[in-house]
Amino acid sequence: MVTVVSHPLVQHKLSLMRDVQTGVKEFRELAAELSLLLAYEAMRDLETVPTRLHTPIEEGEFPMLSGKKLALVAILRAGLVMTDAIVQLVPAAKVGHIGLYRDPATLQPVAYYNKLPTDIAERRVFLTDPMLATGGSASAAIGFLKEAGAQTIKLMCILAAPEGIAVIQRDHPEVEIVVAAIDPRLNDHGYIVPGLGDAGDRIYGTK
Ligand code: URA
Repeated sequence: MVTVVSHPLVQHKLSLMRDVQTGVKEFRELAAELSLLLAYEAMRDLETVPTRLHTPIEEGEFPMLSGKKLALVAILRAGLVMTDAIVQLVPAAKVGHIGLYRDPATLQPVAYYNKLPTDIAERRVFLTDPMLATGGSASAAIGFLKEAGAQTIKLMCILAAPEGIAVIQRDHPEVEIVVAAIDPRLNDHGYIVPGLGDAGDRIYGTK
């Protein structure tokens, strides 16, 4: 399942991120703001339970979050800006990190860093990667999460290409993808077109 968050605020912020004139500071802020809006949608089905409490006026039952606790997992490095933002909304969430590189011989993604909450099997997992391009990293990361016992995983991206979506749907059909927009294609270098460039470089100012 793919959820495209076609809200005007999301689309406006994404267009600003696409603009080559947008500098590092604004790009980073926009990525964080967009992540909050995506999280609002991705977390729409969190369970709540009526909880008795007193307002200053009277006692009553009011919904509070219940059910499985949350884990946010960033694919390094660009996913960090997303988890850093989203943890402000859900401060009790635990945060994991997965770093991947592509083995030049096998072309398979290899984890150079994989630090996940030890109780990830009991948590709902929100995996963050701003750009779902070929889908190789995200698919491998989901594989690592499943090996660690994760049962419920949503993938949160700012922008996706159809190729990346197809890979996730083939490898992990039960994983919902929440994304701000789906662009038409990848170019020969694996960049999303029209896209927004290299998200990591634009977030960290490394280019
Ligand atoms: N990663 C990026 O940062 N940008 C793309 O367009 C594709 C992958």
